[in-house]
Amino acid sequence: MSQLDHKSEAWSALFSEPVSDLVKRYTASVFFDKRLWLADITGSLAHAAMLERQGVISATDGAEIRRGMAQVRSEIESGAFEWKLDLEDVHLNIEARLTQLVGDAGKRLHTGRSRNDQVATDVRLWLRGEIDLIAGLLEDLQKALLDLAEKNAEVVMPGFTHLQVAQPVSFGHHMLAYVEMFARDHERMLDVRKRVNRLPLGAAALAGTTYPLDREWVAQELGMEGVCQNSLDAVSDRDFAIEFTAAASLVMVHVSRFSEELILWMSQNFGFIRIADRFTTGSSIMPQKKNPDVPELARGKTGRVVGHLMGLITLMKGQPLAYNKDNQEDKEPLFDTVDTLKDTLRIFADMAGGITVQPQAMEQAALKGYATATDLADYLVKKGLPFRDAHETVAHAVKAATSHNCDLSELPLAVLQQFHPQIEKDVYDALSLRGSLNARNTLGGTAPAQVRAQLARHRARLAA
Ligand code: ARG
Repeated sequence: MSQLDHKSEAWSALFSEPVSDLVKRYTASVFFDKRLWLADITGSLAHAAMLERQGVISATDGAEIRRGMAQVRSEIESGAFEWKLDLEDVHLNIEARLTQLVGDAGKRLHTGRSRNDQVATDVRLWLRGEIDLIAGLLEDLQKALLDLAEKNAEVVMPGFTHLQVAQPVSFGHHMLAYVEMFARDHERMLDVRKRVNRLPLGAAALAGTTYPLDREWVAQELGMEGVCQNSLDAVSDRDFAIEFTAAASLVMVHVSRFSEELILWMSQNFGFIRIADRFTTGSSIMPQKKNPDVPELARGKTGRVVGHLMGLITLMKGQPLAYNKDNQEDKEPLFDTVDTLKDTLRIFADMAGGITVQPQAMEQAALKGYATATDLADYLVKKGLPFRDAHETVAHAVKAATSHNCDLSELPLAVLQQFHPQIEKDVYDALSLRGSLNARNTLGGTAPAQVRAQLARHRARLAA
């Protein structure tokens, strides 16, 4: 029996009794960390190849490890692999099976290594792959929003501040605001990736090792950008996971704000959009209902991801150097963050394609709250009035329109001229929704010409 097989009894000759079943279950992580299996095998193969190159293990042992690991891999892929709670985690499970298959060569794999640097390496390798998938999904979502923005560049909706009608904006412009957010999220993910993609392996338990390891070679072999330069830090910090979860939380916050708007917009009171039926559900009692469950759930799941950030950051705060078992608790929040984020991004890219805009309802709403009052003020400024005076003059005009229960553009010219004699017929261009929109033709503004310029910039960026 190998030492690892003994583990179900007690760790080693040092222990006089095995752990209780409850403690075994409490300390084991295999049922969630088995998800790291491919990273674990990849890291082990690179470690073994390096040991062989450095003459720490023989070429025969190296070949045996490769042969055994190929078998372990195919067993895991086919589902034949038997995961054992007794073997605590993914690392010990894989090593034990390898040793069963190839004997002593398997027992030599752990030379110059500890589970402390092994697990930190596995999590980083796995997370790097997930970040790449997430970056791709963030691009897909941006492209879906660009399509929606392009289709609706000319559609006017009320822009809000304080959820009060403020100024007319293009619906396309509104969508491009989210493209900006998700573009920054993408950038943030790639930035986090640089710090995730560094190699702890070779730090061993905490202090380095007595074998002549070539850590730089392993880093290169694993496509990592560098080596963690301090062994204590390498095995103990999980700041890379915290940073990732913070970036993920921001993505979710952006998704959540978008969700909130979709929910408002598809309510009967707004009626700005419809979303495809496949993203809505009915009510068990009210036959008329179509509920925006998907955006509501995304808004809810944002709390869950932000919760994981709080969990991870709290996990670190009291830990003395170096590795502590607390760190095993990094996995479930991290895994759930990745799962939630990927599902959410996939569903939103699809849902963005299923949004139909109701331009008339948007225009009607934009006509309600004196959205072009600023345009009248700007008109007067162009006639020579100081802005503050123009602002005050328009306030009087709004008051008059309110008492006539009409929009500024519906006040007769004679009435408007009572507020300022220089007001002429061309004021109605300024007061129209479209005139207002077209006039905001500065970089980053809502004029359709600007929207189209931004669309082109985003398209080029995403094609590169
Ligand atoms: N399952 C452990 C973890 O996730 C692996 C490292 C265990 N190391 C130790 N010294 N007990 O962190």
